[in-house]
Parts: sequence; structure tokens; C-alpha cells
Amino acid sequence: MRELRSSWFAWLIIVVIIIMILNSFLHRSVNETPITNNNNEWQAPDINLLPHNDEGNLIRYGRELIVNTSIYFGPNGTIARLTNGMNCQNCHVEAGAKPFGNSFAAVASTYPKYRDRSGRVESIEFRIEDCMERSLNGKSIDSNSKEMKAMVAYFKWIGKNVKHGERPMGSGIVEIPFINRAADPQKGKTVFINNCQRCHGSNGEGILFPDSTGYIYPPLWGEHSFNISAGLYRISRLAAFIKYNMPFDLTQLQSTLPDEDAWDVAAYIISQPRTEKRFIYDWPKIETKPVDYPFAPYADAFSEQQHKYGPFLPIQQAKEKQKAATK
Ligand code: HEC
Ligand code: HEC
Repeated sequence: MRELRSSWFAWLIIVVIIIMILNSFLHRSVNETPITNNNNEWQAPDINLLPHNDEGNLIRYGRELIVNTSIYFGPNGTIARLTNGMNCQNCHVEAGAKPFGNSFAAVASTYPKYRDRSGRVESIEFRIEDCMERSLNGKSIDSNSKEMKAMVAYFKWIGKNVKHGERPMGSGIVEIPFINRAADPQKGKTVFINNCQRCHGSNGEGILFPDSTGYIYPPLWGEHSFNISAGLYRISRLAAFIKYNMPFDLTQLQSTLPDEDAWDVAAYIISQPRTEKRFIYDWPKIETKPVDYPFAPYADAFSEQQHKYGPFLPIQQAKEKQKAATK
């Protein structure tokens, strides 16, 4: 009798453990954005197959400028001194060839296009200048220069297999779901210390190559980072980029950050100081501002604080309601 009872008890424990494991799996699949490794995601063409003629050389030069931007345009740039020392590739992983790495898959297929931020139809050149002035906190490059032509040629080449108007899976920044509370810089600080600091430094300042030609680990805030008008300053862009790409050495493994941690660490990063550069012509129609654009005026009654950190669902819902009402 006693034996029977103890084995019954052992079975009970085993069943409870199985239920706990199943539950954690279910919970995960509901709340977590899966890191896809899907077969129908975009694949960049192979740079090694480029011919060694004038066109091939121009495209290769464009790629080189995106990988090593700082050598040419950084604080000690060999062509001009225009930027903060970051490389385009710091935010467009593998020169924009990596799906989900803020890739350049859909540049050639969708530009020129109308964008709400500028309120005009933008060319590829215009979009490049945007990242020069905001993400690289710098000045624009001559639109007739060989360098501009090379980068444009690279974008056209890398997107050459994408049909006009299409955005294949893995293009640009791939969004992750909102969490249903405000993102929390204090919690994010802990995430930062545990997962990011070992590369990006305890003050988010990054680490330069010994010869200062560029960053081994780029800065996340401070005077050498992107400015407050850059795309990554919007928390939804930053959280999604982090989710799919950081920590940089772990993304191939399954141990990625939970969504909540990605939002919180993004909140911590945007709560830190950086260059305050605003463009007065941005968002000419205020009702087109994204829910996470952190600067007033707004077409709704939510605060700048809520537009910066969330919760975003109420803002989104109010926006949809208003849209439906004006239809
Ligand atoms: C600090 C990060 C950062 C750096 C550095 C950076 N970019 Fe970007 N770039 C972004 C973000 C964020 C977006 C917007 C992506 C989105 O919202 O989907 C973007 C968008 C773009 C786009 C449009 C992509 C599309 O699919 O619409 C182009 C083109 C581009 N960047 C070119 C460049 C070039 C060229 C450089 C270097 C001169 C550069 N970027 C440097 C963050 C950066
Ligand atoms: C193993 C080192 C490493 C770790 C850990 C790491 N990163 Fe990065 N991070 C990089 C590198 C390298 C790049 C630039 C990628 C490139 O140039 O190819 C980068 C780029 C970035 C960028 C875009 C460029 C910029 O400077 O704004 C952001 C944002 C970022 N990391 C955030 C994070 C966050 C948040 C964490 C922690 C969750 C983290 N990283 C952990 C190495 C790391």
C-alpha cells in the first residue's frame, strides 16, 4: 500500500512538471515574437557574382561606403568630414543584406515614394541624405558625387530581384507587437547591464577601433550617436531592431530577448542624452505622426511622455476611431 502511494505521488509530480513545461511553451508562442528562419524571406544577391566592369565596380564601391562610411566621411574622413563616425552598416546589418537586420530589400522596389515625414515624394538620394543628417548626425553629401551614385547603384543592385512596389519578408525594420504597459527605462537599465554593456560600454559610448577609423561596437547614446530626429529614436523602431539583431553575437542561437526586454531596453536608451537636432519641416500633417513620435504638437490629447514610452494601444485605438469618424 505504502509503495503504491509513493509511486502515485511520483507520477503526480511528473504530470505537474509536464503541464508546467507545456504551459510555458504555450505562453511563449502567444506572447513572444518568434525569430523566423522562414524559407520565403528575402535573400540578397551574391556580391561575389558581380562582374568586374565599370558597373560592378561602382556597386562594390557603394557597398564599401556603406560598410566603412566612417573611413570616408567620419571625423577623419578621407573624402569629407561630415558624420559622427558611425557606419551605415551599424544599423543596416551586413550592408543591408541581412533579412530583419534593417535590410535594404525594398529600397529599389519602393522609391521614389511619398513619405509622411517629409510630406513629399522622396528619391533614394533624398532618403540617403536623411540617414546622413539624422542617423549619422551629420551633413549631406553632394548629390552629384560619385559616392552618391555608387550608393544608389548598390541599392538598385541589392533590390534587383524584388518586383516594383513589393516589400519582401525581412525588409527594413520588422515590427514587434506593442506591450500593454509603458516601456520602463528602469527595467531597461537592468536589461542593458546584463546583455548590452559588455560590448556597447557602461555609458553606451561604444568602442572605437584603435586607429579611430570606426566603431567595433557603435555608441547607443551621447554626442557620437544618432540624433533625436533619427528613425531609431522612435521606440518601436529601436525595440524591433534590438529584438531581431541584438545581442549581436547571440542572434543565431535561440536565446533572444523577450519582447518586453526589447521595449524596456529601448526605453532606457532613448531616456539617455543625445544630440538635439530637429527638422522643422518634419510631419507637415500632424495627424500622420506615428503613435511613437515623441514630439508635440499632436492631433490627439495624449502626452509627449506617452507618445515616447507608451502604452501605445490606447493611442492607436483613438487614432483608428478618429479615422473611422472622418471617413
Ligand atoms: C543609427 C542607425 C542608422 C544608421 C547609422 C543609418 N541608418 Fe538608414 N535607416 C535607419 C532606420 C531606423 C531606417 C528606417 C527603417 C524603417 O522604419 O523601416 C533607415 C532607413 C534607410 C533607408 C530606407 C529603407 C527603406 O526600406 O525604406 C535607406 C535607403 C537608408 N536608411 C540608407 C542609409 C545609408 C546610406 C546610411 C549611411 C550613410 C544609413 N542609412 C545609416 C537607421 C540608420
Ligand atoms: C557582442 C557584442 C554586442 C552585444 C552584446 C550587443 N551589441 Fe548592439 N551592436 C553590436 C555591433 C557589432 C553592432 C553594429 C553592427 C555592425 O556594424 O555590423 C551593434 C549595433 C547596435 C545598434 C545599432 C547601432 C547603434 O549604435 O545605434 C543598437 C541600437 C544596438 N546595437 C543595441 C544593442 C542592445 C540594446 C543590446 C543588448 C540587448 C546590444 N546591442 C548588445 C554589438 C553588440
